[in-house]
Amino acid sequence: MLKTKVTEMLGIKYPIFCGNMMNISYPSFAAACSNAGALGILASVMYRKPEPLREALHELQALTDKAYAVNVNLFPMLRPIRQIDLVKAMIEEGVKIIETSGHEAPDKYIPLFKKNDIIWIHKCAGVRYAKKAASLGADIVEVVGWENGGATGRYDIGTIVLTPATIDALEVPVVAGGGISDGRGVAAVLALGAQAALIGTRLLTTQECPIHDNLKKALINTSIYDTTIIMRSLNATHRVWDNDAAKLVLELENSKSDQMEIFNAAAGAKSKLMYEQGDLSAGIISVGQGIGLIHDIPSVKELIERIMKEANDIIQNLYNS
Ligand SMILES: Cc1cc2nc3c(=O)[nH]c(=O)nc-3n(C[C@H](O)[C@H](O)[C@H](O)COP(=O)(O)O)c2cc1C
Repeated sequence: MLKTKVTEMLGIKYPIFCGNMMNISYPSFAAACSNAGALGILASVMYRKPEPLREALHELQALTDKAYAVNVNLFPMLRPIRQIDLVKAMIEEGVKIIETSGHEAPDKYIPLFKKNDIIWIHKCAGVRYAKKAASLGADIVEVVGWENGGATGRYDIGTIVLTPATIDALEVPVVAGGGISDGRGVAAVLALGAQAALIGTRLLTTQECPIHDNLKKALINTSIYDTTIIMRSLNATHRVWDNDAAKLVLELENSKSDQMEIFNAAAGAKSKLMYEQGDLSAGIISVGQGIGLIHDIPSVKELIERIMKEANDIIQNLYNS
């Protein structure tokens, strides 16, 4: 069993965080991740208001007695929400671990986290932001390298450099993600000094992932070259699957179209439609370069156990083979 500072702090079996994914990380998916021994993370942004979030938390709590976290989304939104109300509802519902991610500074939520003994995890894509979060009192910092699916930040630094650079700069435990699709990736970031691995893209092609089968089938046939970077012109850089919707967003950016038109082309509602109906051009989907290492659709439990077996074998046999 691989114990790390983070598995001990959070009471999780494996040093794996299952990345929070908008319109995917519903209670059943987060619970599948937690029940598999990893840290499942619920995406609170999908609920927008305290009452539906409370219901989702009740559902999650009924599905798992293992540790889970809830994400607070601080990215810019077409329709902003009152995050503070969601944070208060989480705390009232007994949430113990909260992850923040996004552009807005998390400052205003920190007194609530500290007063209520919340374990606060902050996710970012640069050493500068990691240092800031640690100085504000983050208990764990997650960093994601340039390979990752979703927000890539503005510095374009890959996981193999960003991870040790962040660890050198911080006193608190660091969790690393970006491009990790198997046990080799997990062993690699643990070797770099991370206390757990963050995995997003790999989980898209699992049985429990609530996206259409058409999309899962297409994704397992996608190569490491089939992602692209969009929304750099809006300072909201994202790595996504290079499908027709992503091409349209890039065209709009290149032709200096109106910002709202670009945001609309990349809107979460269109992605949701693609996840539900399986039309592969309907919207964008965040996908990391690790997609090219994925070839099957196991259950979350099978996947996590396979990854951990592989990571353990590598760690034990590194100098013997
Ligand atoms: C489909 C998808 C949706 C995501 N949505 C979010 C999100 O809403 N908020 C967030 O902080 N990160 C989001 N992420 C990023 C993941 O939580 C995680 O940081 C990332 O996937 C790790 O890198 P990897 O994809 O290379 O494994 C998303 C990733 C994917 C693949």
